[in-house]
Amino acid sequence: MKISIIGAGNVGATLADRVLRERIGDVVLLDLVRDLARGKALDISDAAPLLGCENSIVGTADYENISNSDVVVITAGFPRKPGMSREDLISKNRNVVEAVLTGVKRFSPDAIVVVVTNPLDIMTFLAYEFMGRKRNRVFGMAGNLDTARFKAILSEELGAPAGSIETFVLGSHGDTMVPLVSRTTVSGKPLKEILKAEALKKILERTKKRGGEIVALLKSGSAYFSPSAACLEILKAIVNDEKKTIVCSSFMQGEYGIKGCAIGVPARIGKGGIEEIIEWDLPEEELCELQNSAKQVKDVLNQYAL
Ligand code: LAC
Repeated sequence: MKISIIGAGNVGATLADRVLRERIGDVVLLDLVRDLARGKALDISDAAPLLGCENSIVGTADYENISNSDVVVITAGFPRKPGMSREDLISKNRNVVEAVLTGVKRFSPDAIVVVVTNPLDIMTFLAYEFMGRKRNRVFGMAGNLDTARFKAILSEELGAPAGSIETFVLGSHGDTMVPLVSRTTVSGKPLKEILKAEALKKILERTKKRGGEIVALLKSGSAYFSPSAACLEILKAIVNDEKKTIVCSSFMQGEYGIKGCAIGVPARIGKGGIEEIIEWDLPEEELCELQNSAKQVKDVLNQYAL
């Protein structure tokens, strides 16, 4: 497998390192900032003898090097600063992502494209449109990051291993995300039987604001260990054709009563990318929250005439 990662910032470089460590495939790390990707790629490859990695990594600023990629991951773009919303990044990151997509379309038009740049659901929509509306092959990573964060926070609060928690977080990668409390269990027990409403509310709030909590602590840049790990989960599912259910931002064609925007929904991921959007029968309240989240994404698309 040839995996090209566009953007050699923290998310891109950490993802490259994770891909090599897990022997998922060969990596091309591309960044237009002169020599940045080359420097990081050399550093990562110097670790290979220590970590037992066998795949190759090449750093470059030249799109020709991504030719014939199986998967392209787009991480390029500006991160949030403390106090910013993800939507504040639209104008700047739209230009970045469109420039990236021009290169991808020219040199690797058939690759599966995984979008990571924020605001995630907006950039995923742009990529979906730009690449010729192939929703199974162009989608965004965020729902499994939000799911992981919900699990991590629950695990800490309840003192339960994260592995004992089953849950999914759908919706937009922002304040309107929808943790599916109805589908959340800890060692098989429904979360609603474990936590009182007040305690649950606090945990949900913290989950929704986790990205911002990290931005505020870092002061410059945003999270990257967990975003790169979430992206790795998607790459593994593609490379190993796992058919795994992972929440991805996908262009909606009427599922859950939503059309015309990209938003986080459960999808079966395998070698073809999104092989199926899974439609669960959600309780009325969660379905409304999901539709409301989609409406907010659509309002932003309209506001920016996208
Ligand atoms: C976050 C940013 C990367 O949620 O969206 O950490």
